[in-house]
Amino acid sequence: MKYQQIPSSLFIKNRQKLFKRLKPNSIAILNSNDIMPTNADGTMLFRQNNDIFYLSGVDQEESILVLFPDAPQEKHKEILFLKETNSEIAIWEGDKLSKDQAFEVSGIKTVYWLQDFEKVLRTLVYEAENIYLNDNEHLRAKVVVETADARFRKWCLEEYPLHNYERIAPHLHELRAIKEKEEIDLMQTACDITAKGVDRILKFIKPGVMEYEIEAELMHEFLRNRSRGFAYSPIIASGFNACVLHYIENNQEVKDGDMILMDFGAEYANYASDLTRSIPANGKFTARQKEVYSAVLNVMKGAMSILKPGITLPDYHVQVGKMMEEELLKLKLITQEEVANQDPEWPAYKKYFMHGTSHYIGLDVHDVGSWTQPISAGNVFTVEPGIYFRAENLGIRLENDILITENGYIDLMKDIPLEIEEIEAAMNA
Ligand code: GLY
Ligand code: MN
Ligand code: MN
Repeated sequence: MKYQQIPSSLFIKNRQKLFKRLKPNSIAILNSNDIMPTNADGTMLFRQNNDIFYLSGVDQEESILVLFPDAPQEKHKEILFLKETNSEIAIWEGDKLSKDQAFEVSGIKTVYWLQDFEKVLRTLVYEAENIYLNDNEHLRAKVVVETADARFRKWCLEEYPLHNYERIAPHLHELRAIKEKEEIDLMQTACDITAKGVDRILKFIKPGVMEYEIEAELMHEFLRNRSRGFAYSPIIASGFNACVLHYIENNQEVKDGDMILMDFGAEYANYASDLTRSIPANGKFTARQKEVYSAVLNVMKGAMSILKPGITLPDYHVQVGKMMEEELLKLKLITQEEVANQDPEWPAYKKYFMHGTSHYIGLDVHDVGSWTQPISAGNVFTVEPGIYFRAENLGIRLENDILITENGYIDLMKDIPLEIEEIEAAMNA
């Protein structure tokens, strides 16, 4: 791992919060993600399952976490099962967690090797009535492979068919949506690394550079600051490409007069940051670019001012839609008549701003959290309005990550240039 070790107090707290939610006499079992294959003997880089990470800090494949708060023996309340390591195995496999290191990372005292899992579980499972298992319940998840969770679920149901099974995901969604202080610090670090990337590219960008060169500058800056890299596939979209919402080819030359929309964020310690900036390739906004940019910036500021404890995300999005409607009317991109006759399900402003304004962010870029309950202090959201005007090859989106507090918000990206003058000054320094 490139990141600095996280205090185990975070994971101890996270488990205690979960314990309060489990029914009496319950065992919860969480799995690491699999290492995904590519071709031949190739594999993708390992990415830990966010739920086992949230509860243990263990960032290693083939790990299982068993939680049994009412276990007859104290030592069985929390157990980690890890891939065996010793000095011989380490020669081939590299560093894996020893039992002592696993305790330091997680605060869990009982650590067994993975080969003992089935035997140990059997000694415990009949003391419990309920088994909590995990599944990816993200609203937009599209999972086409059999995950480690799905495989484990099949095995468990076959082995222990008469227990009562429960879903752990709804509890983890609620818990993970409210960030602890240690998590905010990690997210701030991710945002600060992103900020360093912004500083670097604002000095680098000029007409003639390739989009992928900008991507490379960012990756360089992220890696040298202990990030594993991008939290998601970056969008470096110049000119018309900025109007293609999921453009990730990043293979075109940046032209004089283009605006460049760049949506990227560093990850740090598995936490994501998510930023978008739209800047003029030549370092100077035209009057038209300023006009559209200012409209997006007004909506961004307006949206931040109403994203407070108590509001629900659907109500918030309706209000932000009104703000965008007003700006598009001023720009004469839509007319009062279009607004008067609009379909309430797809209002007129959607022609130029067709995506949502905010999503939860945390261990996942599009993090888990309720889309029906009022938002709370401790939630972290993106705020990301945009205007995409294909006829003018102009796509502008602005995006910062903000922490909701009791009375308002803290902008975790407040030091990153955003105002027109700040961007021009940084590009021409
Ligand atoms: N970069 C993904 C998003 O902005 O939601
Ligand atoms: Mn983004
Ligand atoms: Mn986003």
